[in-house]
Amino acid sequence: MLNPKASTSPAANEFRSDTFTTPTPSMLAAMATASFGDDVYQEDHITTKFQKEIARLTGMQDALFMLSGTMGNQIGVRVHLHQPPHSVLCDYRAHVYAEEGSGLAVLSQAMVTPVHPANGIYLTLDDVKRWTVLGEDIHTAPTKVISLEVTIGGVLTPLEEIRKISEFANAHDIKVHCDGARLWNASAATRHSLEDYCQYFDTVSMCISKGLGAPVGGVLASTESNIKRARWLRKQLGGGIRQAGVLTAPALVALEEVWPTMKYTHEKTKKLEKDLAAIGIVPQIPVDTNFFFIDAKKSNIDMGVLLEQCGKFNVKLMDERIALHHQISDDAIENLKAAIAEAVRITKALPQDYVSKVPPGGYGSTSKMNEYS
Ligand SMILES: Cc1ncc(COP(=O)(O)O)c(C=O)c1O
Repeated sequence: MLNPKASTSPAANEFRSDTFTTPTPSMLAAMATASFGDDVYQEDHITTKFQKEIARLTGMQDALFMLSGTMGNQIGVRVHLHQPPHSVLCDYRAHVYAEEGSGLAVLSQAMVTPVHPANGIYLTLDDVKRWTVLGEDIHTAPTKVISLEVTIGGVLTPLEEIRKISEFANAHDIKVHCDGARLWNASAATRHSLEDYCQYFDTVSMCISKGLGAPVGGVLASTESNIKRARWLRKQLGGGIRQAGVLTAPALVALEEVWPTMKYTHEKTKKLEKDLAAIGIVPQIPVDTNFFFIDAKKSNIDMGVLLEQCGKFNVKLMDERIALHHQISDDAIENLKAAIAEAVRITKALPQDYVSKVPPGGYGSTSKMNEYS
């Protein structure tokens, strides 16, 4: 078991994102002793082993290593889209739409229907029914894919809601993609296995370089025929990797070494939520897994002041999102809490006409998970 008390990773004080995790000694050792076959010819046995393991865990027929979560999402959606006009329905905050460089427009020629969940937290069947474009009205771009991000902002979508959305989609010949960058977290936080979730999706993209801590990449799981097409699309994007074993070997280690620690990361995030509540810090959305989004307004905290204090207390934060992961040290959590407490104290004493150092419009998409915050 990795020991967060003694975390010596440069990511020990990294609360900006769980993407900052660094490879562990055992991952580096696995890279050095990986198989070095050419995976474009499907001759790399560690990569094949990794993909088979993902297929087993997800209950899907097949899986394919991807260079990034973005690549997994874009190819995952694209395998379902053949001829515009067509559209993808997703949450307005969804990474696949808001943070992938307009990939859906460029790579899939897709319109997007970005939906604001009525509950302010996650998409429900009612949202999906309301915004899905059906029929043959030539003015429209019919919905061909529904993409659900699980977790979204660290929040869990109930499995039952996913089931209902999936059944609705199936009934209307719409494919369902999962941006499961953090599906590992969803599974670790609930009694549901990856397979429990994946049964409701046609394609699932998962990241291995976020909370899971491997150095590079992601993986797409689906049917054999979808993965065959995905392999072609991946090659087209320059993602055919030769000695892929150096990247998939540490991913296999991450599954064994880091995934089991995720529940402790979630426990620490819950404990942080409790400690922050004691000094009046309120989250924007529920804290279900490894993220805490500070509601700066309701918490009476000036974000410019907080970021300054983080610098002084030697912890890294870039906006309202506090991200925990397996390499965060216990000392860093104490330092973060001290920085926040100090920022609350300083904010209280600010003059009425104080102009915050926060950039106009905020920090960007990772900072706001609730449009009303
Ligand atoms: C929900 C989600 N999906 C996809 C991605 C894309 O992953 P990558 O940065 O590996 O392209 C991210 C990255 O942070 C993410 O948060």
